[in-house]
Amino acid sequence: MARPATVHICSQCGHQEAKWHGQCPGCRAWNTLVEERAPEPAGRGRGLRAAGAAGTPVRLRDLAADQAPRIPTGIGELDRLLGGGIVPGSLVLLGGSPGIGKSTLTTMALGLLQGAGRRTLYISGEESAAQIRLRAERLEAGSAPGALDIPMLAETDLATVLATMEAERPEVCVVDSVQTLAAGDLTGAAGTVGQVREVAGRIMEVAKRNDTAVILVGHVTKDGALAGPRVLEHLVDCVLQFEGEKERTYRTLRALKNRFGSTNDVGVFEMRDGGLVEVLDASARFVAEATRAPGSVVLAAMEGSRPLLVEVQALVSPSELVPPRRVCAGIDRNRLALVLAVLARHAGVGTGTADVFVNVVGGVRVDEPGADLAIALAVASAARGVPLGGEDARVPACAFGEIGLTGELRTVAHHDRRTDEAAKFGLGIVISPDVAPTLRAALTAALGRASGARRAA
Ligand code: TYD
Ligand code: MG
Repeated sequence: MARPATVHICSQCGHQEAKWHGQCPGCRAWNTLVEERAPEPAGRGRGLRAAGAAGTPVRLRDLAADQAPRIPTGIGELDRLLGGGIVPGSLVLLGGSPGIGKSTLTTMALGLLQGAGRRTLYISGEESAAQIRLRAERLEAGSAPGALDIPMLAETDLATVLATMEAERPEVCVVDSVQTLAAGDLTGAAGTVGQVREVAGRIMEVAKRNDTAVILVGHVTKDGALAGPRVLEHLVDCVLQFEGEKERTYRTLRALKNRFGSTNDVGVFEMRDGGLVEVLDASARFVAEATRAPGSVVLAAMEGSRPLLVEVQALVSPSELVPPRRVCAGIDRNRLALVLAVLARHAGVGTGTADVFVNVVGGVRVDEPGADLAIALAVASAARGVPLGGEDARVPACAFGEIGLTGELRTVAHHDRRTDEAAKFGLGIVISPDVAPTLRAALTAALGRASGARRAA
């Protein structure tokens, strides 16, 4: 009997089955069986010891490590995130939720590269050739002249894709998206864990052989739970995450992993009619849009190594619901819960009978403890109906700092760079752990003495 070409391996216990089962017969876990190509029968077999010839280790000092010149895409923020451009032969995973602008960004990059005389290839399994052309037309007229010159292949069969990459030998190739390609010898549907791993692995083989840099596009759902891109993170050289709210114009591009650069940086883009435009003065824009109303405060956040000023808004309104609503966008729900608890317990701002909404303006996501104080001040100011800095302050107030469980304020990294950024944009008062040791003191400094003692109704 012919050996089956694939096996199903439990991703938890390693149990193997010829057929797929919903529940692993080995460890009884559900939905853990993943289809993989069957291992080679002999020679490189698993149990055999020292079957191959011994390799010769080389002292690292004696290794030639030629720094291949990077391929700059011409999109400044993208190049910066990659550490100075695309590394030839590297594999980059670009993740993000649908509609965020992944295809736009990759088409722009290839268009600019093609325009600069590089060999490129765009492989799309998602859209028809006509749809891609329409996008390219918009981009050609806008920020990426050269977009219409990109060689394009609309294909979902992995074998054809690999053969095309082999034949065309592009310097940079985009695969949009890794979840739409399927290897014919696996029975699983495109997008399943087994397929995604197989597709990425085989593309990587071909790419490394031909020194082709590949940008794999992958969809991630909001919670990142979808089977797919996550399983590739260990395989690729660089993981870029495209974030933001689809309905808003601002997008942030973040490096989650980078073998050839830092993971500290963030690029801010704006989606316009002719494509994505880099926002180099993000702080200036967010500050200009900041209001002076109660419930608004400017947070001096750090996006990697760059300070970024964003407006945090809060609304506190009486509620009939038990428990009342806690809605937030751009910050972590649990962080908000903690801040509300400390506000109530240590600073006399109770919100137990009110709905609380907190929003980071512009669709930016802030994931750092330094945001605590800004959230607390926005909520307190909203609860009391008093603008930060007092009624007659003309510029928005700025805050940053971590809040401890006992109501103390804790210093956060890059204190100076945050205050410098606030000063640069003329923000009047900056409330930080340096100014106030506790949350209560910060409230007094920000809302004035009288309100420090008043309670939220
Ligand atoms: P897209 O790149 O297709 O998203 P993804 O590949 O991540 O799913 O683009 C998403 C949105 O961007 C789409 O709603 C249309 C909009 N868009 C613009 O606003 N301007 C443009 O120039 C282009 C090409 C797209
Ligand atoms: Mg797309």
